[in-house]
Amino acid sequence: MAKSNIGKMRVGISPSVIVGALVNGKENYITLGQCSGLSMNPPMMYISINKAHYTNDGIKENGYFSVNIPSDGVVQKMDYVGLVSGRDTDKSSVFTPFYGEDEKAPMIEECPVNILCKLINTVDLPNNEVFIGEIVETYVGKEFIIDEKPDLKKINPLLLAGGQYCELGNPVAATREVGKLLK
Ligand SMILES: Cc1cc2nc3c(=O)[nH]c(=O)nc-3n(C[C@H](O)[C@H](O)[C@H](O)COP(=O)(O)O)c2cc1C
Repeated sequence: MAKSNIGKMRVGISPSVIVGALVNGKENYITLGQCSGLSMNPPMMYISINKAHYTNDGIKENGYFSVNIPSDGVVQKMDYVGLVSGRDTDKSSVFTPFYGEDEKAPMIEECPVNILCKLINTVDLPNNEVFIGEIVETYVGKEFIIDEKPDLKKINPLLLAGGQYCELGNPVAATREVGKLLK
């Protein structure tokens, strides 16, 4: 395949999540694409937030954040909390919050999956803070659980690709299976 060097450009897809945190005692929500898993045992994930954003202070102050996986029904609200800052706009009533045992970070009732993370480490990048959290609680709406597992088809999470919110496509091949044919 002939290649063109297009410079330092990140091309690809990422999940689209809404992170919840308490900032100055109020619920605040921020949309993020820079979020993923880091390890299975203990279960850990990271979020990467620009230092200029309002949410960072709340995560550092309370030591907790929530990662909420939306479905298409909340796309407009998700985009909104990614457009305005809690610094000048109160975003606390955009979603219905609920809390886990520690009451340290709001999770979002309207999202089918809610993951509560305890802050373990913060990595200082030139423009971003990478918050590494250990997953302490995960909630899934009962109607999204099939055969005792979260059903991604039903959850219908959104991905970011080419400036669009996209739905998950159809499965192409089974992981850790299809490659066995080349063994
Ligand atoms: C689709 C989308 C993805 C975004 N991804 C990120 C991200 O990964 N990291 C980040 O720092 N900001 C990201 N943003 C920008 C923040 O969500 C936005 O600046 C937000 O208003 C900051 O809110 P806050 O100041 O209340 O914390 C994204 C925005 C959108 C719409």
